[in-house]
Amino acid sequence: MNQQPPASTPALSLAEQELQKGFDAWHAARASTDLVSRLYAAAMGDAHPGEVGAFSSCDWTTLGSMVTRLRLRPGQVLVDVGCGTGGVGLWLSRALAVHLIGIDISATAIAAAAARRSHFVSPDQAAFRVGTLQASGLADGAAHGLVCVDALGFAPDRPAALREIHRILKPGARAVLTRALPRTCDPAKEAAAAGFEIEHIDERPAEPELWRRLYGLWSTHETDLRRELGDLQAQTMLDEVARMLPRLDERRAVVLTLRRPDPLLPSR
Ligand SMILES: C[S@@+](CC[C@H](N)C(=O)[O-])C[C@H]1O[C@@H](n2cnc3c(N)ncnc32)[C@H](O)[C@@H]1O
Repeated sequence: MNQQPPASTPALSLAEQELQKGFDAWHAARASTDLVSRLYAAAMGDAHPGEVGAFSSCDWTTLGSMVTRLRLRPGQVLVDVGCGTGGVGLWLSRALAVHLIGIDISATAIAAAAARRSHFVSPDQAAFRVGTLQASGLADGAAHGLVCVDALGFAPDRPAALREIHRILKPGARAVLTRALPRTCDPAKEAAAAGFEIEHIDERPAEPELWRRLYGLWSTHETDLRRELGDLQAQTMLDEVARMLPRLDERRAVVLTLRRPDPLLPSR
């Protein structure tokens, strides 16, 4: 395997430290019980890749799209930004025999991801670091490929996050991202503005129904969620249900494959 490129831990602004505290509490609560994971599994049924243990819409089809679209070779470097507890990147690292660097704003998530590493790969095949979507701490051109599952929407400054993804990809390398937007919005517009070629847009027609089933389960398990996670975290989930449920009919979910242009290759 190749050596991983150097990385540094970026200093977080005060606003980012607040965001970090929120996500640390979110991850700590979910780690304290298997209830939330069981509800994701129940909502996805046999589309749920249980070993990955994602807190996201990542199903077998999404994993398959990432494998197909990344076009990675063994020994190359994959970055997973907003990696959470690491399952998506670790599964891909093992499947594709690539080095993984997982980045997340939550130190709690990063510790959990590092603790899961040995289930998937050897210790030298995956590293996890605190960083943000806007400031990953990675060197220019560090990545042969990048994934970002259900995290870009959390970036306080999405254009800056897309510019950061562009910066850390090698010329010609691809980023595979999940995005969900109202049908009236163009899911590729922001990425094009950041300098990406849009290589593929894979539709995810089943994604809104997944959230409808999950939100239904969160609502019917309100008492269990309050008992297991505490009122604050349970209320955050119920607030998400109230905010997002009315918008699901208008939602278009996609997997975007973005390519950083390579000046040495003819453009498509
Ligand atoms: C919905 S979870 C998805 C996690 C993971 N991708 C998965 O599929 O399980 C979103 C993740 O984004 C992280 N996150 C939120 N804002 C972030 C930011 N500005 N920079 C980096 N990570 C962020 C959260 O800590 C959380 O782990």
